[in-house]
Amino acid sequence: MIVSTSTLTAKASEDRVVDDVVASLRDEPGALLPVLHAVYEQLGTISNNAIDRIARGLNLSRAEVYGVVTFYHDFSTAPRTRHLLKLCRAEACQAMGSQALEDHLLHRHGLKIGEHTNDRRLAVKDVYCLGLCACGPAAMLDGEAHARVDVAGLDRLIASTQEGEQVP
Ligand code: FES
Repeated sequence: MIVSTSTLTAKASEDRVVDDVVASLRDEPGALLPVLHAVYEQLGTISNNAIDRIARGLNLSRAEVYGVVTFYHDFSTAPRTRHLLKLCRAEACQAMGSQALEDHLLHRHGLKIGEHTNDRRLAVKDVYCLGLCACGPAAMLDGEAHARVDVAGLDRLIASTQEGEQVP
């Protein structure tokens, strides 16, 4: 197997970030979540290698760390995308037509919830209530909430994630 120098450098850099974060937070009560947040913030992903190092550094099993990473929607073991769209699937938004948005997402944009575009421009996740229940369906793009989203609005949100394209 050939491993490029840049791959080795990236791994060494990741190792250093993870080890520094673990060293600075390991004595905090319940250190795992703060460590995961800090690592994710700095690296944009929590790789299998990072999971191993965090487990070793906090004296936890790999399964414990992996379980927390996969339980929380805010973490991902895949590299982060440039944009994140969250669609609300909770009851009030479902009653207001959120399923139509999901269907449109698949048929018009070829994306399912939980997937991302091949160019890692946009990922779509589900969320269960954004606090906009009275004016659903609700969505959130890069932390900004949007109410009464219809298919045209969804198209505009997605178009806004394309470089150089403005939301009309
Ligand atoms: S149910 Fe969708 S915002 Fe509350």
